[in-house]
Amino acid sequence: RSADGRLKVRLDAAPGDVKISGRGATVLSYNGGVPGPTLRVQAGDTLNVSLHNGLNDPSNLHVHGLHVSPSDNGDNMFVTVKAGESFDYEYQLPPDHPPGVYWYHPHHHGFVADQVFGGLYGAIIVEDPTPIRATRERVLVISDITLDSLGRIPPVTPSEQMAGREGQLVLVNGQVNPVMTARPGERERWRIVNACVSRYLRLRLDGQELQLLGIDSGRFQTPGDVDEVVLLPGNRADLLVTAVSGTSIFQTLPYDRGGPNGMMGGMMGGGAGPSGQDAQSNPRGFSVATLTVSGDAMTALSAVPEQAVPPDLRSRPVTARRELTFGMGMGGMRGGSMMSFTINKEVFDADRTDTTVQADSIEEWTLTNTSQMDHPLHLHVWPMQLVEENGRAVELVVRQDVVNVPAGGRVKVRIAFDDFAGRTVYHCHILDHEDNGMMGVIEAK
Ligand code: C2O
Ligand code: CU
Ligand code: CU
Repeated sequence: RSADGRLKVRLDAAPGDVKISGRGATVLSYNGGVPGPTLRVQAGDTLNVSLHNGLNDPSNLHVHGLHVSPSDNGDNMFVTVKAGESFDYEYQLPPDHPPGVYWYHPHHHGFVADQVFGGLYGAIIVEDPTPIRATRERVLVISDITLDSLGRIPPVTPSEQMAGREGQLVLVNGQVNPVMTARPGERERWRIVNACVSRYLRLRLDGQELQLLGIDSGRFQTPGDVDEVVLLPGNRADLLVTAVSGTSIFQTLPYDRGGPNGMMGGMMGGGAGPSGQDAQSNPRGFSVATLTVSGDAMTALSAVPEQAVPPDLRSRPVTARRELTFGMGMGGMRGGSMMSFTINKEVFDADRTDTTVQADSIEEWTLTNTSQMDHPLHLHVWPMQLVEENGRAVELVVRQDVVNVPAGGRVKVRIAFDDFAGRTVYHCHILDHEDNGMMGVIEAK
């Protein structure tokens, strides 16, 4: 990053070989690594990414969660970068861009799940205007992958596409169950990305003291103590870990997100745990990493100062209301499966605009799920504030860019369309569902 606030990076997407916990694997990667490089920027910066597509399929780049204009050469998932070609992106972060953890991944409709499952993702950090004191920062990108005996990713099956594929291995920064070490009293900052295609993470680190600073672009005024953090596909957590002597398992517990016929819940809930990942010793979940805390204690750092938070949208007048219904129907799915995924009974069409909103409006969206599986809704550019869940008011005030629409349930979110105009999308962040139609086009005017 240069002194004038510009970060220029080149990302080369290509197939290649990496080592996953000592074993050779043929994956897709940015610049030869899984995950790709972490990009660090500040509010007000210009981010220039020169993407080279060395894959055998079309691709492109999306900066998930960044509040950047959808109209210029920025948040543009409609761009096609053909195999062998390059594209230069420029993202202009507004001067008041919220700090936090974001990420990047391909977004070419029809190829997203395969490319993300293959290994194409990386973290973006928007630095705090006033640094929060910590003894160490770790960026932890959690993903999942399945590898056959030759270290290759097997082709996805129609039932995996229907359910949303979950890999047999859960990786942290491209490794299986890495071990991290710390000294007692250290205050670590964990920046966690759920880059899994479909897997919901229910993360625990028993034995350590956890405070949640924020989710996605949302911050809490004062970070609260937590035991557990649920991250839907695409969500991020900004966590403070105060280290306590001993060994703690960073684990993910089962999460029942339902199934297409109500019979696949067990399979997808992660109850059994991926093979070889501590499923026996940890029947309720499985280990994704281990933290060992030992040595001389460090003196405690002072409390985290109050964080700036945007206005609570519950106290702002709603200017428009809208309903989106998430469903599943028969026919029309890629890859020969029988199921298609719809929003308001339509499958994605890039040429159709489904939702038109006025700039400077506050909208309330009612999201209804008529299917028997959860769908995590992601809206580009503008974060959402969850206000109601199955008829119950939500007290937690935070803006996030992926919210869960539970099976057979209904939630309400409020969104401030406060600046940019342009065309972009919302979609289910189970990327198999997105690739199979569960996406709509939104235009702000
Ligand atoms: Cu993380 Cu539209 O995507
Ligand atoms: Cu996104
Ligand atoms: Cu879905």
